[in-house]
Amino acid sequence: MSTRIENKQTKADNNTSIDELLELEAKYCSWGDTVHYSKQPNIFKRAEGSFLYDNEGTEFLDLQMWYSAVNFGYKNKRLNDALKKQIDTLPQLACQYLHEEKIRLAAKLAQKSEMAFEEKGRVHFNVGGSQALEDSLKLVRNHSGRSLVFAFMGGYHGRTLAASAITSSFRYRERFGHFGERALFIPYPYCFRCPYDKKKDFCDFYCIKQFGKLFETEYHSVVNKKNNKCEFAAFYVEPIQGTGGYIIPPQEYFARLKEVLDEYNILLIDDEIQMGFYRTGKFWALEHFNVTPDIIVFGKALTNGLNPISGVWAKEKLISPDVFPPGSTHSTFSSNPQGTAAGLEVMKLIEDADFNVSIPKKGRYFVSRLRQLQKKYPQIGDVDGLGLALRMEICEKDGFTPNRELTEEIERIGLSGKLCAGGKQRGLVLDVGGYYKNVFTMAPSFYITEKEIDLGVELFEEALIKALKNS
Ligand SMILES: Cc1ncc(COP(=O)(O)O)c(C=O)c1O
Repeated sequence: MSTRIENKQTKADNNTSIDELLELEAKYCSWGDTVHYSKQPNIFKRAEGSFLYDNEGTEFLDLQMWYSAVNFGYKNKRLNDALKKQIDTLPQLACQYLHEEKIRLAAKLAQKSEMAFEEKGRVHFNVGGSQALEDSLKLVRNHSGRSLVFAFMGGYHGRTLAASAITSSFRYRERFGHFGERALFIPYPYCFRCPYDKKKDFCDFYCIKQFGKLFETEYHSVVNKKNNKCEFAAFYVEPIQGTGGYIIPPQEYFARLKEVLDEYNILLIDDEIQMGFYRTGKFWALEHFNVTPDIIVFGKALTNGLNPISGVWAKEKLISPDVFPPGSTHSTFSSNPQGTAAGLEVMKLIEDADFNVSIPKKGRYFVSRLRQLQKKYPQIGDVDGLGLALRMEICEKDGFTPNRELTEEIERIGLSGKLCAGGKQRGLVLDVGGYYKNVFTMAPSFYITEKEIDLGVELFEEALIKALKNS
């Protein structure tokens, strides 16, 4: 099992017992992050490939990979070596000065985006996803002179104040006062649980029609019909809704949405923080949907979870030095050389790989294995995937009513590290998301093998059987 509270005798490296560590944690660590969503948080010690290891050496297959930040596998040698080389040459540099890796990384990202969307643009770096998102809000305000934006119900854009203001959950804002510029939240095309109770094959994009209705008269409060000026400057989208449950919209959805946005001069802001860098089988997830964004926000997998770098790509007209001059935004660690070195190597690794072929292939295999399980267990309500962004909804026996308790029990059993496969004690790391917290959002390593996928399915089934017995 992973190192857990009841595990009194286990010693950590520095001879501190795990119990002592957890006591220190209880006393000195803020519990304001997400660690204590779990009653018995795990302490991990080592990581490699698709696996995490605890103090006792128990192997945990990880199907979430730091919420899709470690797309290229734990301890990826090529990326780690690039970082080590940077540490030995230019480990630190104030971001006021230039270094080669920053320039080359920005160029590669801008060239890749230009290839994808036939638009020239520039890149601005920051440290975490939420900070980059805040930079994008500055670009939007600077360009439009307006500060209100649309975002999706179920959307997640981070937890700094501005990012929380466009993240749909009130829970994340509840204790932090009034958010004047909070987004107007529009239903996401979550077809398995259509917010309008429609059926996908017959709805004729009813949700887009409803959004369009907002613009029908001035009394719907978003547009001045005399000059067609909209009070809302931009629409923030996740092409695949991440924390919302890896929800995949219908193929035509974004093109139809864009028709409305273009009519009222509303910018399309593409949050690729979780789905970017090939998670869905394309460099940017929005490439699946034949629309061009005005701004892309990215983070997470750019450095494979090593020294973090996030950033924005924006169309030239939004970010050229004429309109976004020096000093418009800044953070001490924004283009730190260790992060840019790791990011640059990620881009080179992507150029050398065939992810556009291997990821869809692995994704199809994984989904087919999960659908086999679905046939055996009515509690598996929906299985879907795009590339290696996979989802599985856990429900009551009717295959629809969300079953949060069962989902949490499966997650807990996986993390207890007491599963058994191939004659070995093992664990399974799963991430839970979705509006009803009943969706396993799976983001395995891009290097996961068929054998490891089979292992994941075997471990999941074992956890499910145990959880059903306990319920
Ligand atoms: C789509 C999306 N946007 C923004 C964020 C926030 O990024 P960070 O946690 O790096 O601030 C996340 C993080 O999970 C995300 O998934």
